Amino acid sequence: MNEGKNAVLEVVNHNVWYGTAQVLHDNNLQIGHRRITALIGPSGCGKSTFIRCFNRMNDFIRDFRLSGKVLFEGQDLYQREVDPIEVRLRIGMVFQKPNPFPKSIYDNIAYGPRLQGGCSKQDLDKIVETSLQKAAIWNEVKDKLNHSALALSGGQQQRLCIARALAVEPEILLLDEPCSALDPAATSKIEELIVDLKNNYTVVIVTHNMQQAGRVSDDTVFFYNGVIVEAGKTKNIFTKPAKKQTEDYITGRFG
Ligand SMILES: Nc1ncnc2c1ncn2[C@@H]1O[C@H](COP(=O)(O)OP(=O)(O)OP(=O)(O)O)[C@@H](O)[C@H]1O
Ligand SMILES: [Mg+2]
Repeated sequence: MNEGKNAVLEVVNHNVWYGTAQVLHDNNLQIGHRRITALIGPSGCGKSTFIRCFNRMNDFIRDFRLSGKVLFEGQDLYQREVDPIEVRLRIGMVFQKPNPFPKSIYDNIAYGPRLQGGCSKQDLDKIVETSLQKAAIWNEVKDKLNHSALALSGGQQQRLCIARALAVEPEILLLDEPCSALDPAATSKIEELIVDLKNNYTVVIVTHNMQQAGRVSDDTVFFYNGVIVEAGKTKNIFTKPAKKQTEDYITGRFG
């Protein structure tokens, strides 16, 4: 899918092991620029491992080993000269469980820009406001920016974490089951937000929710046992999958 020059992320002959256990097997995939790509598949099939490869989050896991290439705009993210901190600024990530820092709402958003440096108080105020606006939570928090982020609801915390990821102006947003801890109303807010973000960002989202994948994504990738079984336009994957395994999964026959 997304053949040729529009691929912004790509893996080539990509294998991953934890110790001696191989969990991803010789995958090849291109992820399109400013598209929303959903990663689906049964629990344990390697979705989180796969998405974490794109911003070097697996670096923190002992015994993690990878072969093949992981490319961002054609550059191999695992070459020696690549700075993983810079990678994580350009490729942001939001996790399954909201994980705000035990700081004020303002300081959560200002954290990354402060690390990058060079911002005046006025710049920071602006970044905090626009990031919270983009994440569709500004109206709910604008009068309590100095309150603890931990006092927000789960859905608000997750939107805050999205705002925090956006504050450093990443090019890509990786979302690993961002709605799994949320109720339907909060989930639908996040889904609307994801669709809005597409105008300016490339989004990769792991989800167990087939309706969600169908609603928000342009492209879908189906993993099974560490192997990409099928990838293509979401419309096609959901209406006429090429592989029986894909069909069985999306129709709920297993997983
Ligand atoms: N830190 C780790 N150390 C060793 N093995 C791991 C580690 N993290 C994941 N694994 C193993 O790698 C495989 C893939 O796990 P991963 O978390 O990527 O799957 P997943 O598709 O995200 O599953 P889920 O849908 O349950 O989140 C599993 O067999 C898992 O046990
Ligand atoms: Mg996972």
